[in-house]
Amino acid sequence: MELLPRRPAWPLTCLVLLSLRAWPGADAQAGQGFELRQPEKEMSVIAGETLTLTCTVTEGGPIGPVRWLKGWGSGNETIYDQKEHSSHRGMRAVNGSNTDFTILIRDVRPEDAGTYYCVKFRKTHTGDELYRHGEGTVVSVRARPSNPTVSGPSHRAEPGKTASFTCKTGGFFPSDIRVKWFKDRAPIQAQPIRITPGPSNFTYNMSSTVTVTLQKDDIRSELTCEVQHATLTAPLNRSYHLSQILRVPPSVLVAQFPDPVGLNKTVNFTCDVQGFYPGSVTVTWLENGTEMNTGSPPRPTETPEGFFELRSTVAVQAVQEKNGSVFSCRVVHEGRDPISGRATLRVAALDQKESNSPNTNGSSLFIYVAVGVVCTVLALLVVAILFLIRAKQSKGKSSPSARLHEPEKSSGTTTQESDPNNLTYADLNFTKEKKNIQRIIEVSQQSEYACIQSSQAPASNDNLTYADLDMVHLSKAPRRPAPCPEETTSEYASVQIQQQ
Ligand SMILES: *[C@@H]1O[C@H](CO)[C@@H](O)[C@H](O)[C@H]1NC(C)=O
Ligand SMILES: *[C@@H]1O[C@H](CO)[C@@H](O)[C@H](O)[C@H]1NC(C)=O
Ligand SMILES: *[C@@H]1O[C@H](CO)[C@@H](O)[C@H](O)[C@H]1NC(C)=O
Ligand SMILES: *[C@@H]1O[C@H](CO)[C@@H](O)[C@H](O)[C@H]1NC(C)=O
Repeated sequence: MELLPRRPAWPLTCLVLLSLRAWPGADAQAGQGFELRQPEKEMSVIAGETLTLTCTVTEGGPIGPVRWLKGWGSGNETIYDQKEHSSHRGMRAVNGSNTDFTILIRDVRPEDAGTYYCVKFRKTHTGDELYRHGEGTVVSVRARPSNPTVSGPSHRAEPGKTASFTCKTGGFFPSDIRVKWFKDRAPIQAQPIRITPGPSNFTYNMSSTVTVTLQKDDIRSELTCEVQHATLTAPLNRSYHLSQILRVPPSVLVAQFPDPVGLNKTVNFTCDVQGFYPGSVTVTWLENGTEMNTGSPPRPTETPEGFFELRSTVAVQAVQEKNGSVFSCRVVHEGRDPISGRATLRVAALDQKESNSPNTNGSSLFIYVAVGVVCTVLALLVVAILFLIRAKQSKGKSSPSARLHEPEKSSGTTTQESDPNNLTYADLNFTKEKKNIQRIIEVSQQSEYACIQSSQAPASNDNLTYADLDMVHLSKAPRRPAPCPEETTSEYASVQIQQQ
């Protein structure tokens, strides 16, 4: 136990002072009016800074040194000794002064924390004996935490797995410390922090652990450990990129181009290795399980998402013997089990070498054939109907005739009644002397009218003019302009036959 000094009674000090004033010649009498002042009771200093311990004495004390001790009783430590300069940690602030025994301790360390006493010794024939001392200054050294470190798992882990990360800092004092974790600025919950004694007895260490479930898009994410302590004006941060421990295996897809391939043509097998991280893989091609001698595959390229991909191609001659051969692409990523993709060589049969499209199979061919047949049948049907109509129309036209008849029902009765020229309609079917016809056909734009006039008199009565007209407008009057254009829906022809 420390033997604490008895605090001198203040009234006594006053008495001493008074007596000093009353008897100035009392100096020789072992410094009756001597006073030692150590004003600060407590001091707090941050490690690395300079500690200033103040102590002043009045003149006229007894012969004997002033010392600074750290601690009291057994285990005290001399910090400064007036007799032994520069061999201790304390340095005089005012060198050579007889009254100011303030000392400086530079680059304070956490272990400098303790209670410091300014002590005046009196020299006696047996040695220095304690004469006066200050009340002690309690020095606490606050220590900043060291820059935090974040450590992750020792091996890479795939998405879906959990991984633990530990943030550590140490050498801080006092022990109160706060730690926050963030994943891309979003706070995440951590396990309670653990505080242990630090490198010295006056400091502490801290470790804080979080467990996160890895995701595929964590490739660009980072964890941040943020440490707050009383000695810090701004928190200390340490980040950890999750790409350091993430391993995303590739997807492997093998395809044949073209598929199927014509006999003896060159076929390419492509191996698409996609979405892996980190970006190193080994790609091997195998033909029916036997390793092929292919060149080195291209370097992987990085995608905007931060993953890697590559395409390896191998060219093969599609000879008959290789039809049905299996080509596989074996990808080893990060020393893990290989991931393989495979495709079977399909050489097209000889009679369908032009069919490169994989859609041209039996069922679609059947559809094409069926559609063709239906179309042909429809076309034949249309032709047959047309032929029947034609045949019906040509009935009764075998001999020359000119039949006058009433207009068809469809043309309406009003047409006939309103006809100012009292016209009749006729089917004309003249077959002879076709070559003597001179037609004068006037066609108006809106209606389809025709005036047919045979200009020359036929040689005989037998030489009849031919007209192949269904609806004929016989006009007895001299030639007149085409009928009114309002009758747009009818098809009229005006035929003028010269009288003999
Ligand atoms: C300091 O320690 C020494 C022994 O190391 C002891 O003799 C001395 O009395 C101690 N001084 C005080 C003031 O406790
Ligand atoms: C405390 O942390 C320091 C580094 O800051 C380290 O060197 C030391 O080993 C740690 N001590 C303990 C007890 O963890
Ligand atoms: C394919 O090549 C083989 C020899 O390699 C030859 O015998 C065969 O006639 C070729 N077939 C065609 C369709 O070119
Ligand atoms: C290749 O094999 C497939 C099925 O095994 C067969 O249909 C095809 O006709 C073969 N090609 C040749 C060129 O023999």
